[in-house]
Formats: sequence, structure tokens, C-alpha cells
Amino acid sequence: MAGDLESEGRRTVVRVLPDGEDAKTLGVVAELYEWLADSGVGRDDVLVAVGGGALTDAAGFAAATYLRGIAAVYVPTTLLGAVDAAVGGKTGLNLLAKNQIGLFRHPRRVVVDVDVLDGLPEHLKRDGAAEALKAGLVGDPGLVDLLGEEGLDADLEEVVDRAVAVKVRIVEGDFRDEGQRLHLNYGHTVGHAVEVAAGTSHGAAVAVGMVAAGRASALEAGFAEEDRQRDAIRRLGLPVAAPGTDRGRVLELLALDKKRDAGGLRMALLAGVGRPLVSNVPSATVEAALTAVEI
Ligand SMILES: NC(=O)c1ccc[n+]([C@@H]2O[C@H](COP(=O)([O-])OP(=O)(O)OC[C@H]3O[C@@H](n4cnc5c(N)ncnc54)[C@H](O)[C@@H]3O)[C@@H](O)[C@H]2O)c1
Repeated sequence: MAGDLESEGRRTVVRVLPDGEDAKTLGVVAELYEWLADSGVGRDDVLVAVGGGALTDAAGFAAATYLRGIAAVYVPTTLLGAVDAAVGGKTGLNLLAKNQIGLFRHPRRVVVDVDVLDGLPEHLKRDGAAEALKAGLVGDPGLVDLLGEEGLDADLEEVVDRAVAVKVRIVEGDFRDEGQRLHLNYGHTVGHAVEVAAGTSHGAAVAVGMVAAGRASALEAGFAEEDRQRDAIRRLGLPVAAPGTDRGRVLELLALDKKRDAGGLRMALLAGVGRPLVSNVPSATVEAALTAVEI
């Protein structure tokens, strides 16, 4: 890529960041600032971030803050990055908690090479597919059908286009995460707790979290499509339960959830596929949701 830009007469400098979450630290970003300065990168230059969601989160933060902001272009190389992390303008670094530092700022452009995504190892495809399915459940019933019928064999260009369209539509109405953007948390309340308590991958945890949220949705909002959701999750090779996970630990983590308030646990729910809402959920419903995923 740098060679292509050089052949167009543009000067490029290239730096490799640490892998995955190791990139999302203030220390790595501080080193990046110094390198940008030493390399003579100025206001009119562009930072092109090529990598997974962790890398675009970290590089996006650096671009947003270096010289009070230079343009960023994201080239997500994971399906999760393409359908989720690169879209919506959230950047993030980890401090005491994940994504504790960050700001809202869109990249100038996002470029997705579907051939790269097609070649991903299956576990990375599955992780991204969980977020694509979530996008479908929240805002595109046809995407749920596509993933439910074809699983990981679905045309990734269509999957990315449709999932991104849902996220863009929601983010456009709520850039700063004060209202309907919470709908994108569907499956993530229990999902995050399962990710920590059971040590599963993010995608697998979100899949389990969606089954739990489906049960809570049935009890609180009349959701009648739990089977449709569960079938699609299974078709993607993702888990629908997390047996053996410590229920007490999950409840503890849910209690710490920053979205908790006096009325109970605040969760994104579905009244139907494509009909999201946010509601405070009583503890009896939380217990039933955990039972639904064998926790
Ligand atoms: N900003 C947002 O709105 C947002 C949304 C969702 C997730 N995120 C963040 O995204 C991160 C998760 O993203 P992720 O799942 O892409 O994780 P990641 O960036 O850690 O990448 C996962 C692994 O895949 C490797 N990888 C990347 N591209 C590859 C390729 N083409 N082939 C083979 N391996 C490849 C990476 O090196 C890494 O080891 C988390 O830090 C999360 O907080 C941000």
C-alpha cells in the first residue's frame, strides 16, 4: 500500500503497532506521537490505519489528538473492524477499564477490502459475524435471514454493507451515545460479563448475550422470535449458552455495569427483529435470562 502511494508521488512513513489490545495504551500512543513528530508529519498529512479494531481504535485516537487532529483513513482487516469498530467514530484506549479513554471523531474514510475479510481465519470471521447478526437483529431483518440461511458462507460484501448501513443510521441519530445508540449494545450487557467471567471470545460472548437478551426481551417486550435468533447464531457456529460459567461472578459483573441505575439493569431489548428499545430490567428477568443461557 505504501508502495502504491509512493508511486503516486506521495511521501509515506510506516510504523507497526503492537498486536491487538496491546496497541490501546497511552504509552503506545505517546510513542506514536513522537514518531509522527520525528517523521515531520503535519496538519495536512493523513494517518492510514490498517488493522483490526484495536488498531483503528488506537490509531484513530492518535490521529484525533496529534496536532489537535489530523485526518485518518481506516482500512479494517477484520470483519469485526469492518462492521463495527471502524464505523461510528468512537476511538478508544484502555486504562483501568477497557475504552476508558477516547473521543468521538469520524475517520475521513473507511476502506474495506472484502478479499482480505474472505481470507480471515474462521474464528475471526465468527467474531465479526456475531456483530453483523446483532446489527441485523437491531435494524435489518433481511440480514438476519441472510446469515441464518448461509452462515459464514454469506457474501461478505453484502454482510458488511448491510451491517454498516444499520450502524450508520443509528449513529447519525445519536453520535454521542446519549440515546438510540444504546440499541447497538444489544447482547453486550450479559455478553461483556460472560466475556470476562468465562474468558470466551468477544463474538462468542455476544452470541450468548444475545440469547440472554432475547429471553429478557420476550419477558419485558413481547419478543417472539427467540428461535429465529438462536437458529441464526447456531448457523454461524457461535454458542447459544455458556454452561459452567460462574453465575455469581456474572451477577457481580452486571452489578458493576455502568449502565445500572436505581430501576434495575438497563438493557437493549427487542420488541421484534428490527424493533429495538432500551429498558430497565428487573432482577427476576436477569435471572431468567441467565438461566436461558445455562448460567
Ligand atoms: N470503536 C468502536 O466503535 C469499536 C466497536 C467495536 C469494537 N471495538 C474495538 O475493536 C477491538 C476488537 O476488534 P478486532 O476483533 O478486530 O480485534 P483486534 O484488532 O485485536 O484483532 C484481532 C486479531 O486479529 C489479527 N488480525 C487483524 N487482521 C487480520 C487479518 N487480516 N488476518 C489475520 N489476523 C488478523 C490482529 O492482529 C489480532 O491479533 C477491541 O479493542 C474493541 O474495543 C471498537
